[in-house]
Amino acid sequence: MSLLEIERLTAGYGEAVVLEEMSLSVSEGECLAVLGRNGVGKSTLMLAIMAHAARFAGRLRWDGHDFSTLSTNQRVGLGLGWVPQEREIFPSLTVEENLLVAHRRGGRFDLNGIYEVFPRLKQRRRNMGDKLSGGEQQMLAIGRTLMTSPRLLLLDEPFEGLAPVIVEELEETLMRLRRDSGFAIIIVEQRAEDVLRLSDRAIVLDRGKIVLEGKSAELLADFEQVHRWLSV
Ligand SMILES: Nc1ncnc2c1ncn2[C@@H]1O[C@H](COP(=O)(O)OP(=O)(O)OP(=O)(O)O)[C@@H](O)[C@H]1O
Ligand SMILES: [Mg+2]
Repeated sequence: MSLLEIERLTAGYGEAVVLEEMSLSVSEGECLAVLGRNGVGKSTLMLAIMAHAARFAGRLRWDGHDFSTLSTNQRVGLGLGWVPQEREIFPSLTVEENLLVAHRRGGRFDLNGIYEVFPRLKQRRRNMGDKLSGGEQQMLAIGRTLMTSPRLLLLDEPFEGLAPVIVEELEETLMRLRRDSGFAIIIVEQRAEDVLRLSDRAIVLDRGKIVLEGKSAELLADFEQVHRWLSV
């Protein structure tokens, strides 16, 4: 059975439809890449999964149970962990306070667990949120979401604006985490070839619809057809 199943989801903001009848599923432990040009609805898909965008039609299932009408908090409780594109670090809280805000009792990760994953956050634990480098902010954003013990991690362009060496470090950490903890990932990313190497499957969106999908290795082997949907 799929962990997350999306069935003919139509979603958007106010009256505006952004996603149209989108269907997809993610299994336990699987990594799905979401590709597409700017403004095609990649973030909206994540927002709709987290109940931050409006659902006009369609269903969302978790372990086979319909969660379409649950609130954001209830979805976090199910094990959905979203790392927003804007990172949304609390600037006037320390690194440690940012992490503790999200902590879920009895969850898989506590403060020390996060510091093991990201030793750099331990060094910076007393720093204020706005006194961090871009890479440290992203580690904190991911760490904060891990504190909620997700079974599915939604990553919205986690490598955006980061130096290549930090990207490499983060990629390795994420893949190691995934191996050790077994959570599933949906990752939105502009660098299509990189993310196809990390993921099991991928979908390409255009104007709110899935226009291409398949195994990442196969899409990588025939990258021309992917590129066609990404070039302007
Ligand atoms: N809060 C909002 N209210 C109304 N429209 C929005 C809102 N957020 C996004 N949109 C619109 O929804 C469409 C899809 O935006 P979305 O942010 O999902 O795209 P994206 O694929 O994530 O783009 P990018 O690669 O630039 O992050 C765009 O036309 C955008 O203008
Ligand atoms: Mg986006």
